[in-house]
Amino acid sequence: MASSTSAGNRPINAPAYVKNARLIQWVQQMVDLCEPESVHWCDGSQEEYDSLCSQMVDTGMLIRLNQEKRANSYLARSDPSDVARVEDRTFICSKNKVDAGPNNNWVDPAEMRETMNNLFKGCMHGRTMYIVPFSMGPLGSPIAHIGIEITDSPYVSVSMRTMTRMGKAVFDVLGTDGEFVPCMHTVGAPLANGEKDVAWPCNKETKYIVHYPESREIWSYGSGYGGNALLGKKCFALRIASAMGRDQGWLAEHMLILGVESPKGEKAYVAAAFPSACGKTNFAMLIPPKSHEGWKITTIGDDIAWIKPGADGKFYAINPEAGFFGVAPGTSEKTNFNAMATLKENIIFTNVALTDDGDVWWEGMSKEAPAHLVDWQGKDWTPEIAKETGRKAAHPNARFTAPAAQCPSIDSAWEDPAGVPISAFIFGGRRAAAVPLVVEAFNWNYGVYMAATMGSETTAAAMGKQGETRRDPFAMLPFCGYHMGDYFNHWLQMGHVIDNPPKIFCVNWFRTNEKGEFVWPGFGDNMRVLEWIVNRCKGQAPAKQTALGWMPSYEDIDWTGLDFSKEQFQQVTSIDAEMWKKELEDHGELFQKLQERLPKALVLKRELMQLSLWR
Ligand code: OXD
Ligand code: MN
Repeated sequence: MASSTSAGNRPINAPAYVKNARLIQWVQQMVDLCEPESVHWCDGSQEEYDSLCSQMVDTGMLIRLNQEKRANSYLARSDPSDVARVEDRTFICSKNKVDAGPNNNWVDPAEMRETMNNLFKGCMHGRTMYIVPFSMGPLGSPIAHIGIEITDSPYVSVSMRTMTRMGKAVFDVLGTDGEFVPCMHTVGAPLANGEKDVAWPCNKETKYIVHYPESREIWSYGSGYGGNALLGKKCFALRIASAMGRDQGWLAEHMLILGVESPKGEKAYVAAAFPSACGKTNFAMLIPPKSHEGWKITTIGDDIAWIKPGADGKFYAINPEAGFFGVAPGTSEKTNFNAMATLKENIIFTNVALTDDGDVWWEGMSKEAPAHLVDWQGKDWTPEIAKETGRKAAHPNARFTAPAAQCPSIDSAWEDPAGVPISAFIFGGRRAAAVPLVVEAFNWNYGVYMAATMGSETTAAAMGKQGETRRDPFAMLPFCGYHMGDYFNHWLQMGHVIDNPPKIFCVNWFRTNEKGEFVWPGFGDNMRVLEWIVNRCKGQAPAKQTALGWMPSYEDIDWTGLDFSKEQFQQVTSIDAEMWKKELEDHGELFQKLQERLPKALVLKRELMQLSLWR
């Protein structure tokens, strides 16, 4: 039966099975602060999901798609001002500024708490407050952790059900005194008495995504969009968890995890870090080319990995998420067959276009666009209009929220609480030149250097200019919850806590020729590189020593079924000393920014590279 505590003025309606004293006290405080009209404790059931979705259809927040084409699926259109993560409004409020590092926006926590308290006061007027219990990782796994999100967005509540293990069972794991990360979220749009709601409430002027790494709390104000609002993902699983990992001796990484099975049935798992929109989801769901019959790629996760040292001296990884929050544009049966198959039912699409028969479409889904669409802003769209105005049917950062279990390539161990053993770490960015197709680091510290200095051309997932190269160490620049120099140091240390650390590789699928065309075919053909990588891990593939590390010769890659000449191979693997001179200057600039906490081992590596390149 429902109960409430006597500590505050307002009823919190906690179900009797909620027994965690700290949780009840926190919810009471938040109810008193935010003054919602009602409180709903999410149980994670299908009935609850369906009923919340139906309510959102009634209020115009969701459009129900054609059942025959996309069963149990919906389309949401965000406010045009609320379409991406807001890095410039994202804050790490550690006690000392230096601990947040130059890679983060910092505000004194006491000052930020006052700002948040003022903003959150009465912020849920006229709205329901949802209490969303979730586990990042399989319930009860020793690698998993629990969070509780409080939100006034039903869209966030249902999305959390897909993206995490959300529901009642979390309270059993939490017990009376279990630990959880409190995640506070509001769209920042209180309703006056009788005021009609808009389809996508948010606060156009004010947005804050705030993290307190020491007390492990998240406060998010003003946005209803993905990474700003589904707080289990980037805020918890990366920013807060990276700080937890530093303190507790594990790794929270912006990495996909995939399994590679050879025709002999040998299986290896690799974890790979690429910055946003560099094809992580495509790589995680890769289908080997016909020439590689018998090889199988399986998916554990497409965005985040939590990795802990196991008793047997290996790193074990889980995907803390339960769903994919993928970029829709560019996804097609050709580029990612498995993703398209995952999207058949139970999906929430955001900011894609609507077809006349109630299905979805986005740029790149098919060669020809339909003759008429309603675009992501609810306006009529035709190929002719697009030609004249350049208007896209789907927003470039349009997303799908999809249950991972529906993915045809999902690995049989994806829910194993013990995680899977990692044989290799792969790092890669979007680089038109300089960085070769694949290189294996000489050793762990070298690998940390390569990952620390990686760069990528910017894309739509992050706000800001597109097409510029930015240094994105470990693909963690927007997601590391503390000083990047300390993070490098943590990685250097982690190489020594286990007997046999994974090998580290750097890849680049994006080299272009003088005409600006990609030279490497990518997609399924990345299997050829992956084959070399896993064989290297088993000590079964040759390599040649270069200034950057170990690289394959043309003969070391299986080219069966692909017309890829020695000359083309040279184009994607050449190392240009002049370019690397500039590259090392850029590394120096990055190191300069981080110098107060930069590990000496990395400074030395840079000097060594300089020597080997200009010998
Ligand atoms: C994402 C991102 O949404 O990295 O996964 O931006
Ligand atoms: Mn990501």
